[in-house]
Amino acid sequence: MNLSTNNEIDIVRASSTKINDIDFDNLVFGNIFTDHMLICDFKDGKWQKPTIKPYEPFLLDPSAKVFHYGQAIFEGMKAYKDNNDDVWLFRPDENFDRFNKSAKRMAMPEVPEEVFLGGLHEILKIEKDWVKKGKGNTLYIRPFMIATGTGVVAAPSSQYRFMIILSPAKAYYSGEVKVIIAEHYSRAANGGIGAAKAAGNYSAQFYPTKLANEQGFQQIIWTDDATHTKLEEAGTMNVFFRINDTLFTAPSSERILDGVTRKSIIALAEKEGIDIQVRSVLVWELVEAAKNGTLKEIFGAGTAAVINPIVGFSYKDEYFELPKLEDSVALKLKDKLTNIQYKLEEDTFGWTVKI
Ligand code: COI
Repeated sequence: MNLSTNNEIDIVRASSTKINDIDFDNLVFGNIFTDHMLICDFKDGKWQKPTIKPYEPFLLDPSAKVFHYGQAIFEGMKAYKDNNDDVWLFRPDENFDRFNKSAKRMAMPEVPEEVFLGGLHEILKIEKDWVKKGKGNTLYIRPFMIATGTGVVAAPSSQYRFMIILSPAKAYYSGEVKVIIAEHYSRAANGGIGAAKAAGNYSAQFYPTKLANEQGFQQIIWTDDATHTKLEEAGTMNVFFRINDTLFTAPSSERILDGVTRKSIIALAEKEGIDIQVRSVLVWELVEAAKNGTLKEIFGAGTAAVINPIVGFSYKDEYFELPKLEDSVALKLKDKLTNIQYKLEEDTFGWTVKI
């Protein structure tokens, strides 16, 4: 190991790298991590100096509040390599802002920009060889914060740990995605934490998703908790519907995550002259459009999955198959978006940030 410091961050370099043992062509999403991680602790009311050090497990007290009350938030981001070997981030300021909104909602301290974005730049400089060239290759970035303070009193912690870990990734889903429309379970409710990237929002989906998997569906389209009539999200992604030549997606709200991919697709669709309406689509509208042939596409959008076409949906035990299209808007928008991310097309939006 070799210790250095750049004033803001202590850096302890790993004595060897795992990179030569990784089969980058056959990655299972989120299973392999790079050689280093970033750690920054919050104690005595302030953030301490961050450290980048070799990736390894760490100890926590069994009474740490994250174990008992789930005070935990995260973000999902990606780094991309262009044909000149430069590494790029996509709209990192959006993730930073949303992380701190999530922190506020979960009564956690906000993370300073120099720790979140400054730390991310430093660790990516160290791990740049883990970002492989070529469309589809990415380094998935997982910043997260957990409550590390001890004691099982149900109150916010006074100590926290912010970390960044990195995982080389290709596709999130390996096969076709069929969904079932939620009639009973909910992902989020008004006044709840649906708009925060809180860990519990995701674990609360596991049981209903397991039931859906048992029926042959990969994901659930979440509906509003009060009436189950409005279509809101698809699994861990935002969701878009194309009826005739109009794209629809629900407005972000207290129940819906303000996705970075979602808002980029809206902007790209507007630029491409695609008719896009940000409004709730009702379940009956979707079923009617599927029955009369005007429903052309459904797709999920998120950082991990990018844009994921959905091949069919089930509602009240009736299954509707989506048509296989030559002129898929989902694939056109995915191509445009990834061309910007990999610097294959001019980024007229100013979304990409060089490391
Ligand atoms: C992402 O798309 O980055 C997410 O946060 C979803 C996650 C469950 C993989």
